Amino acid sequence: MGNLNMAALMLIMWIVSTAKATPAVVFDVRKYGAKTDGKSDITEALSSAFKEACASATTSKVLIPKGTFQLRQLCLKGPCKAAVEIEVQGTVIAQTDSNKMKTDGSWVSFKYMDRFTLSGGGTFDGQGPKAWGTCGKKYCKQLPINLRFKSITNGLVKDITSKDSKQFHVNIMSSKNLEFQRFTISAPPESLNTDGIHMSRSQNITIKNSNIGTGDDCISIGQGSQHITISNVKCGPGHDNGVRIKTWPASFEGSVKDVIYEDIVMNNVANPVVIDQVYCPANECNAKLPSKVKISNVSFKNIRGTSATPVAVKLDCSSGIPCQGVEVADIDLTYTGKEAPAALSECSHVMPKISGKHSLSICGVSA
Ligand SMILES: *[C@@H]1O[C@H](CO)[C@@H](O)[C@H](O)[C@H]1NC(C)=O
Ligand SMILES: *[C@@H]1O[C@H](CO)[C@@H](O)[C@H](O)[C@H]1NC(C)=O
Repeated sequence: MGNLNMAALMLIMWIVSTAKATPAVVFDVRKYGAKTDGKSDITEALSSAFKEACASATTSKVLIPKGTFQLRQLCLKGPCKAAVEIEVQGTVIAQTDSNKMKTDGSWVSFKYMDRFTLSGGGTFDGQGPKAWGTCGKKYCKQLPINLRFKSITNGLVKDITSKDSKQFHVNIMSSKNLEFQRFTISAPPESLNTDGIHMSRSQNITIKNSNIGTGDDCISIGQGSQHITISNVKCGPGHDNGVRIKTWPASFEGSVKDVIYEDIVMNNVANPVVIDQVYCPANECNAKLPSKVKISNVSFKNIRGTSATPVAVKLDCSSGIPCQGVEVADIDLTYTGKEAPAALSECSHVMPKISGKHSLSICGVSA
């Protein structure tokens, strides 16, 4: 457990346009039957308000005002006629019992929309505590994740909190040009499988100025993802590991390339810098067969702070396809353990380019 301040993982940058033309038509859920008595279930009201907003020929906004509302389960689906914003000012609460939810794997989903915004300073509370651990320590596929974004293009999620999801907090799939800013994720350290944000098959996804503390993985990037930028994100408390690329042995062919980890502060993190191509928890795979994923052009630059494990830098590449173009510069990590040996590195099947100043020897090149 530890804190990892991901000051900048930068692949590309752009300027966010905030220009707004005509004011949006507002569809307030109170007009559709939602009450602000703290107990009101807004499933139907939100669904109806959204349907009208989605059919509006001009920019529209669905408003969930301040207050506490129950929401059973909902999929808000486009395509819509114009840009739609959902402004959540209040707190929306899930059912405690996931058996009452359809097993489509999500609590609230947003799908097939272009120019979609989710905003407002509000909270989605997944009511996770009773669900955590119901599958033992294992990953529990049938539990719903809090927020799913599928096939969203030109989207913005800002000033939103996801709290105590029953499973992963956010899943982004098949989306393009989607930005998260000032996004907060919170779940206690003992929650199970409450990963922060997972994405796959997506392009140009940005996560910035955000705070993710879940007791599990912070941000994970799965297959088919390109042009991902993560900057100024605080991760923790969370799982062990700081910045990590992992691939299974005996895997399908694939590649991971052009990754820059830069300007990151580690605060008592176990395994702060890792490439692990023999990732095989609980011996679920044949660890003797090499990974077929090719890792190239990866740099770790200006990473500093404290390591909770003696091995602060571990570059364990595939024996079948060694890593290429790995660059390590300016690593300043100290081990915090009592017996306090100096922090170490472990390297196999990699010959990194090493430059700058280091507080530890990296792959045999002394500090
Ligand atoms: C990336 O997405 C942002 C919105 O999040 C958009 O403003 C920008 O133009 C996109 N960049 C490219 C190269 O498409
Ligand atoms: C390595 O990555 C950088 C940044 O993504 C890119 O500009 C560069 O062309 C890549 N180099 C190679 C050899 O692929």
